[in-house]
Formats: sequence, C-alpha cells, structure tokens
Amino acid sequence: MTVNRFWQLDHHPQGSDFANALSLQDEMLAPLAEGEVRVKVGWLSMDAGTRMWMSPRTDGYQPPLPLGSKMAGLVLGRVSESRDAGFPIGTLVRGFGQWADYATVMSALAGLEAVDERLADVRQHFGALGMNAWTALVGVKEVAAVQPGEWLVVSAAAGATGSMACQVGRNLGARVIGIAGGPDKCRYLRDVIGVDLAIDYKNEDVATRLAEVDGGVHAYFDNVGGPMLDAVLPNMAHYGRVAVCGMVAAYDSDTPLPGPARFDQVLMRRLRIEGFFIPDFLHRGAEFLPVLRKWVDAGTLTVNLDETFGLENTLVAYDRMLSGKAIGKVIVKVAD
Ligand SMILES: NC(=O)c1ccc[n+]([C@@H]2O[C@H](COP(=O)([O-])OP(=O)(O)OC[C@H]3O[C@@H](n4cnc5c(N)ncnc54)[C@H](OP(=O)(O)O)[C@@H]3O)[C@@H](O)[C@H]2O)c1
Repeated sequence: MTVNRFWQLDHHPQGSDFANALSLQDEMLAPLAEGEVRVKVGWLSMDAGTRMWMSPRTDGYQPPLPLGSKMAGLVLGRVSESRDAGFPIGTLVRGFGQWADYATVMSALAGLEAVDERLADVRQHFGALGMNAWTALVGVKEVAAVQPGEWLVVSAAAGATGSMACQVGRNLGARVIGIAGGPDKCRYLRDVIGVDLAIDYKNEDVATRLAEVDGGVHAYFDNVGGPMLDAVLPNMAHYGRVAVCGMVAAYDSDTPLPGPARFDQVLMRRLRIEGFFIPDFLHRGAEFLPVLRKWVDAGTLTVNLDETFGLENTLVAYDRMLSGKAIGKVIVKVAD
C-alpha cells in the first residue's frame, strides 16, 4: 500500500492566512474504481482563480470546495495506475487533480489530457503551452479582438496569464502597456516581455499614466477588477473592448467587490465588456497549441517559471503567487 500526502481544506482562509486553513494529511491510496486514473504528480500549478474555490462564495464560476476535501488544482505528471483504457500507465498528462503526491481523477471531469513528452522542458505544459497561455490567446485575440496598431493594456502583467497576454498582444501587432506592482516587475516587462510601456501601480497613478495614451486604450485584458478597472475605463477609446479574465483584487474576500464606479463610461465610450472562462474552451486545445508552439519556437512567447520544491512547501508557493512575490508562472515540483 502506498502512502499519499495531500493538502486538505479545513477552513475558509482569512485573507492570505493559508497555514491556518489548510493542512497536510496522509492516507493510504485506495484501489481505483472503474474509469479512474491515478497520476503521480510531478508538478502542481499555482493559479490565482483557485483562491475563490477556498471561499464560501456560491456565486462563483464553480461551487466552493467543501471543507474537509482535498485542495483541487492543475497537476502535471505520469499515470501510475489506470482503469481507463484511454490513459495507459506511463502517459504524461495534465488535468484538474488534487494538491497531493498522487491525484486520483475521472478523466472527463478532470479535463485530463495526454501532453507531448518530447518537449525539452515539459514544465512548459504549465507555461507557454499551458492553460494560462490558452487564456491569454483567447482573451487577447478573440474576446478583446485586438488589432494591429491598437493599444492593449494588461493588468497583473508580470504574472503567468498577464505576461503571456502582453506577448500575445505584441505578437498580434498591438502596442502593449503592462500594469504590475513594483519596479522589478516593470523592468521585467520592458526588458524581457517587450512591452511599450510599463506602469507600476504601487508607485504611480494608473489613471494619470493612461491618460497620456494617444487615442485611448482600445483593449483591456483585465486580471484584477476593482479600482484598477475604474482607472482604465475613463481612458478607453470609443468602441474599446474589455476582456474580463479575472478579479484577483477581490479573491481574498468572501464578498464580491462593488461594481465599477465608472460603469457610466461603458455608454459614454460605447464599450464592450465580456467575461470568459478557459474551461469553456478546453475542446479547442488542438487549435491553440500550434499557434502557441510557433511563437515558442520563434522565441516570441516565453514565461519565467518560479519553481518551489516539495509538496510540503505548496503554501509558500501559493502565497508567492497571490501576494505578487513571484514573476511569471508559479509551480511546485512534487516529484521526479
Ligand atoms: N478567465 C479564465 O479562464 C482565467 C484563467 C486563468 C487565469 N485567470 C485569471 O488571471 C489572473 C491572473 O492569474 P494567474 O493564475 O496567472 O496568477 P498570476 O498573475 O501569476 O499571480 C497573481 C498576480 O496578481 C497580482 N495581484 C494580486 N493581488 C492584487 C491586487 N489586489 N491588485 C492588483 N494586482 C494584484 C500580483 O501581481 P502584482 O505584483 O503585479 O500585484 C500577482 O502576481 C487572475 O485574476 C485569474 O483569475 C483567469
């Protein structure tokens, strides 16, 4: 019998106090039921959206995780046991599993898929070929419908989704403005990601900086919501588009933020605002991958991987991601 360590959600976290909300537990692995797949987790993906699953909010895009359950999240690893003929032992897979040494899933519910193991660095299945990259592509190209020469603004721009949204915009010919917290992140955005302008929202007034944008902002890839959205709306160009990707400013609260104070600008500037959710697009992976792969091979889509070692250190990594200590994509290496 194999011992499995897993993170259990004991309480809804207060703010960023994850240590008092989750605990690392042990169990003996049970035999698989028909249709189940067991994945020996190589890496865990730290995703801002999972913070909402820990809250008691029932109006999110998926129900809250029941207290006492295993913390859920994206995993990358090899199938170690299988009662699903579609996923033989040894297959490298990615899907929604648990923060654990071993994730046990039903493939369809988990969005489990076999991924290319010939990549020089398979961690890119959580990076430039992963869900954050798919999100960046859908949000910039389809929802924000960015055109060459337009101004695209991206918030949380030095994070996983944001840094790739900036690059997708640049690759599509847009002029890109990244908003991020602190001078190091802004330097990264300018020097590595290649944005035209970086705004440090912790030390600069975002609305004032955006007011300098010639012709206004055509497209806003919003990862943050809250006051930052209010700083952008009055600086949008007429017929501008806002792709609502995330609202990280509100994820540590059990109640939603009030709506945008500058909602009037939607009418005044004839804006289109549209939310989107990448699990709705999972069936289009085969279409997204060649586009992303081409940019990766050309060196025009990169992601900094911020890797923490050990399942026992998952909460450290999670806090690095949410509190803005990390640049790029935060992952946890669980096993070889
Ligand atoms: N719609 C979808 O399907 C979808 C899919 C994936 C991700 N997302 C969304 O994309 C966003 C980014 O997620 P991610 O997983 O890629 O995380 P990430 O951007 O790598 O990390 C989160 C970042 O958010 C910023 N942040 C945290 N609190 C903030 C606040 N109060 N105000 C402004 N910025 C704040 C921090 O950067 P700073 O240091 O710059 O503050 C932090 O680095 C989230 O809103 C997430 O929900 C949506």
